[in-house]
Amino acid sequence: MLAKINETAEFLRGKVSGEMPKTAIILGTGLGSLVDFIEDKQYIKYSDIPNFPVSTVEGHSGNLIFGTLGGKRVIAMQGRFHYYEGYDMKQVTFPVRVFKALGVDTLFVSNAAGGMNKEFKVGDVMIITDQINLFPENPLRGKNFNELGPRFPAMTEPYNHRLIALADEIAAEKGIRVMHGVYVGTTGPTFETPAEYEYFRIIGGDAVGMSTVPEVIVARHGDMRVFGVSVITDLGGKDITEVPSHEEVQLAAEKAQPNVVAIISELVKRA
Ligand code: HPA
Repeated sequence: MLAKINETAEFLRGKVSGEMPKTAIILGTGLGSLVDFIEDKQYIKYSDIPNFPVSTVEGHSGNLIFGTLGGKRVIAMQGRFHYYEGYDMKQVTFPVRVFKALGVDTLFVSNAAGGMNKEFKVGDVMIITDQINLFPENPLRGKNFNELGPRFPAMTEPYNHRLIALADEIAAEKGIRVMHGVYVGTTGPTFETPAEYEYFRIIGGDAVGMSTVPEVIVARHGDMRVFGVSVITDLGGKDITEVPSHEEVQLAAEKAQPNVVAIISELVKRA
């Protein structure tokens, strides 16, 4: 695994013009148009990057984008690898390993999620304060490489408290309503049954989605600071019978997108 990570990092170092970024951004649902704010962009197709999986999901294109956002050098992942697509945990989290090898110390992530918190509305932006891993495995399972991080990493602050406080300040300045909550990560690709939404709420979840948790575990293994946002694209619970469709999820995410982009772009600048 180390050889592959280093090979990919070497390849990117050789390709990228300009300083290596210390900030990486996974452009999940709700954050795609952040790309428009990145300047001096250099696109590198996943299919051209050695050892990179290739993205298969509709509406996600596969590129690493190197550029500048708010005066900071950034790497953005346009398209991520989901466990439900069939990638294993090591593939899902491989880009985060490569970011670390390139010297990245701060990771921003976004996703679409179903809301269980009864205060939430479709289109809400939820700053992720914590997460629950309900994937059937942990990306760190297997031999530990001490070069990458400790065997038993602490997960007491998965999402950086200072970045959360900064994001709250930015949201208040811009008059954007933000919620806080715990993200439950599940395999998918099924959306939840009413009983499952209810179960996730009872165990302490505010929103549920099919990504993010693996990447954040690996980022924390490598001691990166992490900031995450969920866009609430549908609501679930035992009395809720509306059926979330992939299209509705995309539509709700598009509506919230300007707010997410406004917060993250300012946060990258100030972080
Ligand atoms: N469940 C799981 N993943 C999701 C949902 C949901 O309700 N909405 C968007 N992604």
